[in-house]
Amino acid sequence: PTAKPITIVEVGPRDGLQNEKGVIPASVKADLINRLARAGMWHIEAGSFVSPKWVPQMAGTAEVISMIDPQPNTQYSVLVPNSKGLADLVAISPSPISEIAIFTAATDAFALANTNTTVAASLERLAPVAAAARAQGLRVRGYVSVVITCPYSGKVDPARVRHVTQELINMGCYEVSLGDTVGTGTPATISTMLEEVGKSVPPEKLAGHYHDTFGMGVANIFASLKHGIRTFDASVGGLGGCPYSPGATGNVATEDVLYALRGSSYEVAHADLDEVAKVGWWISDVLARQNTSRVGKALWAR
Ligand code: HMG
Ligand code: MG
Repeated sequence: PTAKPITIVEVGPRDGLQNEKGVIPASVKADLINRLARAGMWHIEAGSFVSPKWVPQMAGTAEVISMIDPQPNTQYSVLVPNSKGLADLVAISPSPISEIAIFTAATDAFALANTNTTVAASLERLAPVAAAARAQGLRVRGYVSVVITCPYSGKVDPARVRHVTQELINMGCYEVSLGDTVGTGTPATISTMLEEVGKSVPPEKLAGHYHDTFGMGVANIFASLKHGIRTFDASVGGLGGCPYSPGATGNVATEDVLYALRGSSYEVAHADLDEVAKVGWWISDVLARQNTSRVGKALWAR
């Protein structure tokens, strides 16, 4: 029997780099994106059109996009928080970006910290952005942050996650990525959450976005596979963290996910683990940061 295809959305250039303190030249960010695409990553989140006062590291996204060398099989997306972000994106022509991601949260406390508004008000702000993007031919993905724990208000009720996910689907998102922003989730809590969200939204429309703070990312992905989820976000070299989630580390490392799926009944056939691991080392060296991918370290021990 042939393995079932898994989609990995490589979020390193966005979620990974947004939290870095030092200035990273646009050429380095574009180089990261281009290396990932050449290593066989077919979905890459390339940056964000957010307020530079909120997330200074993403300020140069327009310039980064202009330096992308589009690979035929790779789809490139960016985060957009409001109509200004969308306007800035569509002003770029030609552009390799075929998709935007809009984002909100399961708690008001996190939505206020991250986007200066409540969940309900954020959904109101995002609905016209999603509609306008779709009218321009862009696909729209949704994110719900803090699906397990909120750094400001604690344990999150899965029913809240289900409600917000449904709202994003209703406004035209083809998929909603469920963010364990803090990375406290375990196979048990992730399963409980997915069971609840699954009452309203089928697994083909869900993705797992698991930060690896407690080292549970790979385990949580395998728990999610049992619930029918086939799309996962990951970050090369385990880059990243959310500026509005103090202490949270990066996403589960892309290398770790690719290695864990090897020989299973699931696969990401086009992604080349060795090449991705090289990219993980390259960007870790350039940023002078620790490579937090266990698999990356094991493959290219030095
Ligand atoms: P606000 O301050 O309420 O916005 O921020 P505003 O509309 O009042 O505008 C304030 C200023 O920002 C104005 O400039 C606007 O022009 C400017 P001024 O007149 O003061 O000079 N501005 C913009 N500039 C550039 N691009 C824009 C934009 N919008 C306004 N799009 C806002 C509200 C949503 C804009 C702000 O809170 C924001 O940008 N937040 C984004 C925060 C962010 O990017 N967080 C990280 C990504 S989410 C994440 O990491 C979680 C995820 O990974 C999943 C998970 O792990 O949970 C996805
Ligand atoms: Mg994230």
